Amino acid sequence: MYLLNIQSSPRRSRSASIAVADAFVDAYCQISPDIIVDTLNVWEENLPEFDQEAIGAKYKGINQEAMNEVEQNVWDRIQELVARFKRADRIVIGVPMWNFAYPYKLKQLIDLVAQRNLLFTYDGREYGPLLKTPRALLILTRGGAFAEDLPTPPSRFDHQRGYLEFWLPLVGVQEVKTLVVETTSWRGEEKGKNSVEQGKATARKLAAHF
Ligand SMILES: Cc1cc2nc3c(=O)[nH]c(=O)nc-3n(C[C@H](O)[C@H](O)[C@H](O)COP(=O)(O)O)c2cc1C
Repeated sequence: MYLLNIQSSPRRSRSASIAVADAFVDAYCQISPDIIVDTLNVWEENLPEFDQEAIGAKYKGINQEAMNEVEQNVWDRIQELVARFKRADRIVIGVPMWNFAYPYKLKQLIDLVAQRNLLFTYDGREYGPLLKTPRALLILTRGGAFAEDLPTPPSRFDHQRGYLEFWLPLVGVQEVKTLVVETTSWRGEEKGKNSVEQGKATARKLAAHF
């Protein structure tokens, strides 16, 4: 049983999203000891740029045309990343809010793996998912707080949750659970620590039914 643990914070041991995801993963491994955890940190993975060669490879890959050496190298790397998604029985993604959305390196990973006929099909009319992943957990951390009765209502300010909750089912994740951890940094250090501790406690509880 494989758990793909995607980290999208570059802050390593100082990261709130990684700390909460680690609490979840540790608890989940204790419950199901046969789990193999595959950790993919988008900042440390040396992801290829999504440049001319990558786009060339994408279209040649779809049309099954011959690639030059650079395109082939990018395409091989893309296939390796896709294989990690395909192998995953469960996915956990830790995501810090950046400018009311998510870090661009996470989008780079998505742009690399979201290839037609690898993660999804499209027949000109409808999209078909190619992953068969029963569940994913999104852990969304935010420095501030978002509520409709605050000056930062999610209906206007949250561009983090919607895209990721849309994208995972599009490629075949059957159920997405979301854990939001707010006020990790914008209301002082103590408040931040408490929020992260509460997030970890909730994450451990979620591990029992995942
Ligand atoms: C570049 C950058 C942009 C940020 N933008 C927001 C934001 O728009 N809204 C918010 O609530 N917090 C924002 N924050 C704060 C982070 O979301 C918050 O500290 C989060 O817990 C960081 O997670 P991490 O420790 O896993 O990296 C931002 C932080 C950084 C570094």
